[in-house]
Amino acid sequence: MTRPAVLFVCLGNICRSPLAEAAFRAEAKRAGLAVAIGSGGTSGEHAGDPPDARAVRTAAKFGHDIAGYRARKISGEDFDRYTHIFALDHANLAALQRLAPAGHNVHLALLLDVVPGLAGRSVADPYYGTEADFAVTWEEVALAARHLVMQLAVQAE
Ligand code: 4NP
Repeated sequence: MTRPAVLFVCLGNICRSPLAEAAFRAEAKRAGLAVAIGSGGTSGEHAGDPPDARAVRTAAKFGHDIAGYRARKISGEDFDRYTHIFALDHANLAALQRLAPAGHNVHLALLLDVVPGLAGRSVADPYYGTEADFAVTWEEVALAARHLVMQLAVQAE
């Protein structure tokens, strides 16, 4: 099997998907899973920006340094680079479906689809919320990261 490459996608790539990337990086490392990992946004509005300060603080609280991450707008070429693309919510899944080249081979889904009982659910956007909302985001993406690593580890066997 080819080495998996996983991309997490939200709107701005400054709040949810950087947290998902950090949580998944840590879980994959813990599990010794060989996987390429990235994140991006469907909007280019924050391209080049570091993550939101609240996301940086939340990641730090859980032991992860994401201050060096920089936002990037995704493109159709990401469907050549990644084997799995996970949208953090329905709106971004729809945007990805519009961007997807015909006949692509990527596993495209909502991130919470990997969590039993949470399929079809969006990770709530904390951008207009409080730091407590970012902690909820962290819990959701960390849970998804654990399930996703388990699933990819089984497939790699
Ligand atoms: P993200 O959060 O998609 O989780 O990075 C947002 C970032 C920026 C905006 C909205 C959500 N915005 O409206 O600029």
